[in-house]
Amino acid sequence: MTNAIQQQRERGLLTLQLNRPDKKNALTRAMYMQLAEALEQADADESIRCVLIQGSSVCFTAGNDIGDFLEQPPSDLDSPPFYFMKSLLNCRKPVIAAVAGAAVGIGTTLLLHCDLVYISRDARLRMPFVNLGLCPEFGSSLILPRLLGHAKAAELLLLGEGFTGEQAAAWGIATEALDSGEAALAKAREIAGRFECLAPGAVQVTKQLMKSVDREQLRQVIEEEGALFVQRLKSPEAIAALSGFINRS
Ligand code: COA
Repeated sequence: MTNAIQQQRERGLLTLQLNRPDKKNALTRAMYMQLAEALEQADADESIRCVLIQGSSVCFTAGNDIGDFLEQPPSDLDSPPFYFMKSLLNCRKPVIAAVAGAAVGIGTTLLLHCDLVYISRDARLRMPFVNLGLCPEFGSSLILPRLLGHAKAAELLLLGEGFTGEQAAAWGIATEALDSGEAALAKAREIAGRFECLAPGAVQVTKQLMKSVDREQLRQVIEEEGALFVQRLKSPEAIAALSGFINRS
């Protein structure tokens, strides 16, 4: 068992910290499994009021481990990244993300499924799926055009343009942009503490209502994106781009 996911329990708050600093917190299969299991346990444990997902004050995550994508690509919709995202989507408890530094690929996508996101103004977000010969994942092809309009979403998804934490907050991807990574982490923790005093039943029903409108359409889009993503990982376009990252000098 690695310590690349650190779990900390403090009263009703479960904090899941991505902790693989030498690889910019890139997510391995093992890390996805640990995150998924922790989210499922948090969901089942009535004493947990809220889950906080964070990296460090300088890096959230560089996304999926690119070596894993080449060596052990997800082969079906039960593979570790899908298991993790399913656990996130199904979590009845509020999930807060605290983001600083890089949030790339799934590091940006997962924010679309958190309830509250506190981010440093200078955080660097990017969804370079096309650049890697891949395609959007976990509902981003549905959610982003709705949030931003097609033309702006196309800049992020077709061109893979990066954007800042400040922009993420202005566009409604994040709740609030803060002056530093430390401030984003502190704010997320402070807000997480508020759930100690809020009625857990009312919180869960409210989250369920907010998510239920789009649930069926989102499920269909995620399935369609997932099948294409798994196919594209085997494409010569993706293999060349992913190998290019691994072999860069
Ligand atoms: N998978 C595996 N390893 C990764 C990684 C990833 N997604 N992202 C970074 N790393 C590794 C690098 O290979 C490097 O390892 P090394 O020191 O053994 O050579 C280390 O993490 C530090 O990365 P580096 O690129 O030197 O840091 P940086 O601060 O210059 O840049 C990023 C940070 C996140 C902007 C850059 O690493 C990056 O673009 N990573 C790829 C992100 C990506 O495309 N993810 C999407 C997958 S769908």
